[in-house]
Amino acid sequence: MSAVMKQNDWIKIGKLSDIPKLGARVVETDAGNIAVFRTADDEIFALRDKCPHKGGPLSQGIVHGNRVACPLHDWKIQLDTGVAVAPDEGCAASFPVKLEDEVIYLMPVASDGCPNNS
Ligand code: FES
Repeated sequence: MSAVMKQNDWIKIGKLSDIPKLGARVVETDAGNIAVFRTADDEIFALRDKCPHKGGPLSQGIVHGNRVACPLHDWKIQLDTGVAVAPDEGCAASFPVKLEDEVIYLMPVASDGCPNNS
């Protein structure tokens, strides 16, 4: 059987060590720029690199716990869901990401749960 690339295949985007703790790197995909974050506990999350407020680059924000603070106006966005922390409202699309043997894989198809701002 030939290996046909499907649109929802996992793509290898690099190693865990390529991303500094509490940092992020941007992956350019057909689905737009996706920010991949690394927390202090070496958890990995992926969100559209676009704040639900006014489109700030979340990849340049500060990671704190399981949240990232947008660099423009300091909205806090939940890394696992992409949902803005109250009282702010909005959502940045989140994407499936996984770690296998220190290698990060990303699925460039937005998860459900964020109908607007995808
Ligand atoms: S653009 Fe992110 S808080 Fe305003």
